[in-house]
Amino acid sequence: MKGSTKIQPQDVIAPIDRRIYGSFIEQLGRAVYTGVYQPGHPAADEDGFRTDVINAVKELNVPLIRYPGGNFLSQYRWEDGIGPKDQRPTRLDLAWREIETNQFGLHEFMKWADKVNAVPNMAVNLGTRGIQEAADLVEYCNFPKGTYLSDLRRQNGAEQPFAIKTWCLGNEMDGPWEIGAKTASEYAHLANETAKAMRRVDDSLELVACGSSSMDNPTFGEWEETVLDECYDNVDYLSLHRYYGYYNDDDPTELDNFLGKNLDLDAFIKGVVAMCDAVKARKRSTKTINLSFDEWNVWYHSNDADTKVEPWQVGPHLLEDVYNFEDALLVGSLLMTLLRNADRVKIACLAQLVNVIAPIMTDTDGGVWKQSIFFPFMQVANYGQGKVLVDHSQSATYNSREFKDIPYLDTVTTYDEASQTLTVFAENKHQTDTLDFDLDLTDFTVDHVIDATQFYGYDVKADNRDGKMQLQPLAVNASGHQAAVTLQPLSWNVLRFA
Ligand code: AHR
Repeated sequence: MKGSTKIQPQDVIAPIDRRIYGSFIEQLGRAVYTGVYQPGHPAADEDGFRTDVINAVKELNVPLIRYPGGNFLSQYRWEDGIGPKDQRPTRLDLAWREIETNQFGLHEFMKWADKVNAVPNMAVNLGTRGIQEAADLVEYCNFPKGTYLSDLRRQNGAEQPFAIKTWCLGNEMDGPWEIGAKTASEYAHLANETAKAMRRVDDSLELVACGSSSMDNPTFGEWEETVLDECYDNVDYLSLHRYYGYYNDDDPTELDNFLGKNLDLDAFIKGVVAMCDAVKARKRSTKTINLSFDEWNVWYHSNDADTKVEPWQVGPHLLEDVYNFEDALLVGSLLMTLLRNADRVKIACLAQLVNVIAPIMTDTDGGVWKQSIFFPFMQVANYGQGKVLVDHSQSATYNSREFKDIPYLDTVTTYDEASQTLTVFAENKHQTDTLDFDLDLTDFTVDHVIDATQFYGYDVKADNRDGKMQLQPLAVNASGHQAAVTLQPLSWNVLRFA
């Protein structure tokens, strides 16, 4: 099979906002307790943070981390997580039916985020709480000094304001599972009034309003329109969430369908962009609302196990999906789709980061291990820098149960002017055929391959559990001005030219 692409320097989709490589830590399962935070573990530092986790997060080069939830957020009192640890209350977490000890809270998160070189994407509870608590949290975090809350922060050890710029106005407020779920108009009004108050405290904030928690929710569309109608002038981004599963294991053609799910992601993004722009036009506004895709991933492996977990534990094994090779291929494709929409997707968060539907797993009594999805994410977050270029790729296509015209060749190219490096990400979705990939780079000054890896050859159901680490991309020999490469069947490839 053949495939080709032609890339031209002037054909730019958009500069890449690095926050598109964000991730997410929720106070859920073992994300925090025995994940990020485990005092007494041999790898724990003076703050009780696991240094083996810190090092793995740094490899991913995640610039922004959403916190503290998620569903947890909608019933959380932020004040529980500040002050002396021995005076913090232990509470019921109604979202996940866990015990929350609050030994890890705002200050711990800020310190940890700094250690992994990330900025926070903070969130305010609009489920059980409202305007006042949100404005208080902004004052506590961002006001310099001289008020009760800013001085309380200083007393709790943070002399300088946290200066948190990006804030989510609630989480999945359209979802019936959410504590304090709202109708679209209830949420729109509360979000707008909360945004106004938060901006009064700090007018430099960037605010994200909740879009639909899924494109499948019956209120999708109507929700976006109602929320934007009321909040347009007071918010900067609308959120999107999407998780993918693999549900027909017995059907041999299901893999073709699974690998086409990035078309769904693309349609979702384009649909929400159209809704934002329709409201913009109706309001005759000059302001553009961009997207924060603040939860995305594969999530289904742990669904059955989660129904058997006993409630009211601290740090239970919840949402511990173990990812296999086909998941890594889909995650690569989803990342390329986000990049192709970088003109409007400015923030995105792989949900989540540690232990909970995560690329990084910890053994409570041992070390960390990297899931299959760690690798495409790491490569795109590290090498997908600069600008995304328009892709004129061509290849044969196929149809699947849900999708039509899925190209076998999925590819995207980025160019980083600072290092004068061109990076081509390319996936061959064909299950048995190699793909002869012709790259026309003639308009670029790059003339040699500096690095090439292939991730392929594994059983699609193989994974890295039990510390096996068998799944990872391997370097391939490529030298000179390599403009033709063979992509192996079911492979994720990265080629870097300088
Ligand atoms: O990321 C896991 C959960 O998925 C989050 O808590 C929630 O926002 C979403 O439904």
